[in-house]
Amino acid sequence: MRMPSLSHSDQISIADKARQARSVVGENLTPAERRSLRQQAGDLLSREDAVLVAHYYVDSELQELAEETGGCVADSLEMARFGLSHPASTVIVAGVRFMGETAKILSPEKQVLVVEPQAECSLDLGCPPAAFGAFCDQHPERTVVVYANTSAEVKARADWVVTSSIAVDLVADLAAKDKKMIWAPDRYLGDYVKRQTGADLLLWDGSCIVHEEFKGEVLSNLKQQHPQAKVLVHPESPASVIELADVVGSTSQLILAAQQLDSSYFIVATEEGILHKMRQSAPKKTFVAAPTAGEGATCISCAHCPWMKMNDLQRLIAVLQSKDTEVVIDEEIRIRAAMPIQRMVEYGRQSA
Ligand code: 13P
Ligand code: SF4
Repeated sequence: MRMPSLSHSDQISIADKARQARSVVGENLTPAERRSLRQQAGDLLSREDAVLVAHYYVDSELQELAEETGGCVADSLEMARFGLSHPASTVIVAGVRFMGETAKILSPEKQVLVVEPQAECSLDLGCPPAAFGAFCDQHPERTVVVYANTSAEVKARADWVVTSSIAVDLVADLAAKDKKMIWAPDRYLGDYVKRQTGADLLLWDGSCIVHEEFKGEVLSNLKQQHPQAKVLVHPESPASVIELADVVGSTSQLILAAQQLDSSYFIVATEEGILHKMRQSAPKKTFVAAPTAGEGATCISCAHCPWMKMNDLQRLIAVLQSKDTEVVIDEEIRIRAAMPIQRMVEYGRQSA
């Protein structure tokens, strides 16, 4: 059984938003200008007692700056943990909106800023809180498990929040306790988790506009041209792509696999920003992006998350100066959303 799909007009509006969120990274900047901006951003972070927490999909310059200045570049679970444990009074999140919200939910006493408040996520947009709440009301006997890529309101309705790094393990544990579950919002990840665990999951019908464009058939052709290649796949991808994977995992798990697997050639089915860290951590290996389209086809994202790419150095500097992108969450919702997120962090700690 699956949740009725989003309306056609809702789907069009998500695609439109993605098209409008055109990437700004690196436009018209000389290397000298970039160096100077990076220096300025580093100085501001230290002056403002702020720490930069970045996702692997953002501009490589921001990833490097985060690491150089004592912040972190990480997957969404580690981003949540890092902001919580770091002593800085201000956390600045380079990623998408739900990542900033998660940081604020866990650290309400801190000032949490996002580099770009317009940076959304198609999974979050595709799971409106009121419709999701009504769906949960129809199935009160089910445990509600939601993916981290959701709004604070949706998390407030959940029993558990998970990221892709722990989804299979957590759902398997709940299934072993005879729990039936609602899973939202990513239907591809939900389907993968269901196949891995055999759990009774009722799936919401959301998707990531980036990962759903990877194409199994074209990937299979590429694999035949490079028989020595290992294929690394994020589980937000369609089943036909996951089937061809040597490793399926979260962004951090894929980076680790790139370092550890005995191969010098990798095809990577996730957002292309991750290639920076893979090339940094395994410089002698070759990494190519998996195909997003067959011959003549078009794609909205082409392995490029338009919202992640709205984060850039100039925006970061403007935000550190103006502090006008503070994440604000209604306190009642924050308290309810904190519970399933804290469970996730605790679960992740125990299974690490
Ligand atoms: P990770 O939790 O693997 O970092 O994924 C976040 C995300 O947005 C993937 O598209
Ligand atoms: Fe959301 Fe997909 Fe972008 Fe990740 S890559 S932030 S899931 S739209």
